[in-house]
Amino acid sequence: MFFALFLVIFACISKEAWSCRCALRHPQSAYCNSDVVIRAKFVGQTLHTTSDGTATLVKYEIKTIKIFKAPAGIQDIQFLYTPQMDSLCGYSHHSTNKSEEFAVTGFVMNDRVHINLCGFITPWASLSPYQKKGFQQLYKENCQCQIIPCYSVPCETENNKQCLWTDLVMKQILKNNEGPQSSKLLCVENNDGFCVWESMKSRLYTTVSKLSRSQ
Ligand SMILES: *[C@@H]1O[C@H](CO)[C@@H](O)[C@H](O)[C@H]1NC(C)=O
Repeated sequence: MFFALFLVIFACISKEAWSCRCALRHPQSAYCNSDVVIRAKFVGQTLHTTSDGTATLVKYEIKTIKIFKAPAGIQDIQFLYTPQMDSLCGYSHHSTNKSEEFAVTGFVMNDRVHINLCGFITPWASLSPYQKKGFQQLYKENCQCQIIPCYSVPCETENNKQCLWTDLVMKQILKNNEGPQSSKLLCVENNDGFCVWESMKSRLYTTVSKLSRSQ
């Protein structure tokens, strides 16, 4: 079992990979812990040497469809930067379809948006309807809650603002957007101040009924 988990955790890493280790992240955590969350198409790529000449980055040209989250002042994002080397967690984009849309999380460094293998970069079409709503609205409203991945039992939360993510031990996860907690659930704070898993189905319904009442 340990070995299987090990494979899952490090599956995103190729050959020289011992220096790039990514913990899997629930999409809500990916949203909350990133500076930038967008829906975008990858339309081109070039190599870019940093101004001090010490590193080569891949500069992806993108068409941003929607910015879900970004620091104030960022209106449009045209480029995403990533290390060229896998061992530095560089992200390689494999799809050549320039019309395919992706959910992308990244971070801002020196006024540029950077991405890497440890981010959440997934075809938009492969997201569950709940995850799409999560990115559009629901994750942002629940960033006070933290999701703790459980890689092997036993695991426990440290305080009442955490939900345990057990998709990994239940072996129900193959990629980072699968598994029932990942695809359908939201970690939300209840009336007693505890963070608990809740089905996004009920949230969608409440949101819709609130909206229709207010109109
Ligand atoms: C490219 O992506 C678009 C949008 O997802 C899809 O409709 C189209 O079929 C894809 N084309 C190819 C050649 O895969």
